Amino acid sequence: MVLEDRVAVVTGAARGIGREIALLLARHGARVVVNDYGGSEAGAGTAAAPADAVVGEIKAAGGQAVANYDSVASMAGGKSIVDTAVTAFGRIDIVVNNAGILRDRMIFNMTEEEWDAVIDTHLKGSFAVTRAAAPLMREQKWGRFINMTSTSGLVGNVGQANYAAAKLGIVGLTRVTALDMARYNVTANCISPFAWTRMIGTIPTQTEAQKARVEKIKKMSPAHIAPLAAFLCSDDAREVSGQVFGVRGKEIMLFGHHRPLMRIHHAEGWTLERLADVFPGTMQQHLIPLETSGQYFNYDPLV
Ligand SMILES: NC(=O)c1ccc[n+]([C@@H]2O[C@H](COP(=O)([O-])OP(=O)(O)OC[C@H]3O[C@@H](n4cnc5c(N)ncnc54)[C@H](O)[C@@H]3O)[C@@H](O)[C@H]2O)c1
Repeated sequence: MVLEDRVAVVTGAARGIGREIALLLARHGARVVVNDYGGSEAGAGTAAAPADAVVGEIKAAGGQAVANYDSVASMAGGKSIVDTAVTAFGRIDIVVNNAGILRDRMIFNMTEEEWDAVIDTHLKGSFAVTRAAAPLMREQKWGRFINMTSTSGLVGNVGQANYAAAKLGIVGLTRVTALDMARYNVTANCISPFAWTRMIGTIPTQTEAQKARVEKIKKMSPAHIAPLAAFLCSDDAREVSGQVFGVRGKEIMLFGHHRPLMRIHHAEGWTLERLADVFPGTMQQHLIPLETSGQYFNYDPLV
C-alpha cells in the first residue's frame, strides 16, 4: 500500500473533509490520529464521540487509528496532537491541518472575539501542529504538510474578513514551511476545497447571490478532496511543494501565485500628479475585478 508505515495526523477529522481524508489515508495504509475537539460549527463545547466514530470506522475497515480531542488552537494542543501520534505509532510523517470554524460578520460589525476565534483555529492552529511536527520530520528527513486554504482568501467573500485573513495567512505559512523544510525532503502544500459540509451550512443565505453559491456547493461531496490529499502524501509527489491546489467536485485546479502583472517606471521618480496622469492608461487597464469566490466560480461544478 502506498502509505504503508506512514503515520498521519488529520485535524478536525470527525466531520466533512477531514473525515474523508482520514478514511482514505487509512485505506492506503497510513496509521491515523483522528483529531477533533467535537465542538459546534462556531467553536462552542467539546465532545469525544465524533472523533471516536471515525476511529471506529477506520478500525472496522481493517485500518489503525487513535483519537485525540485537543483543540488545535494552542501550542500545547498542537504538541499534544503530535505526541499522540508518536506515543501510539512511534513517529509522525503527515500532518493535514484541516480543523476549522466560521464566524461570519461584516467588517464594520466583527468583534474581537470573532476575529480571534477564527484566526486562532485556522492560522495559529496550523502553526501549532506544524511547529510540533516539523523538528521530528526534519530529523527523519521525510514529511508532508497539507494545509487547507479557501477561495474566501484567494478570491474573496463578503462577511469573512477573519476567515479570509486566516486562509491567506495559511498560504504564507505553507510557502515558507515548504522553503524551510525543502532540504529535509519535507513538502508543504495547500488545498482550497469546495464541499458541502456542516461548516458551509453556517454561511448566511440572505442575498440571492449567497443562496446561489450555497446551492452550487450542496452538489459537491467532501469525498472529492481526499484523493488529492492522499497523492500529495505519497512519494510520487516528492517534488510538489509550496503549491496551492483547488478541488471542486471532479475538477482539480492549480492556482497561480502573486507576481507583478505589470510594472511602470518613471525616469524622474513618481509624484502623485505623474501617477494620476499615467495610471488610467496603464495599471487601471489591468486591475483585477473586485468579486467574490461565488462570482468568479460561477459555473456549475463538475460533479
Ligand atoms: N467545505 C468547503 O467548501 C470549504 C471551503 C474552503 C475551505 N474549507 C476548509 O476545509 C476545512 C474543513 O472544513 P469542513 O468544510 O470539512 O468543515 P466541518 O465543520 O465539516 O469540519 C471541521 C471540523 O473541524 C473541527 N474543529 C474545529 N475547530 C477545531 C479545533 N480548534 N480543534 C480541533 N478540531 C476542530 C470541527 O469539530 C469539525 O469536525 C476547514 O479548514 C475549512 O476552512 C472548506
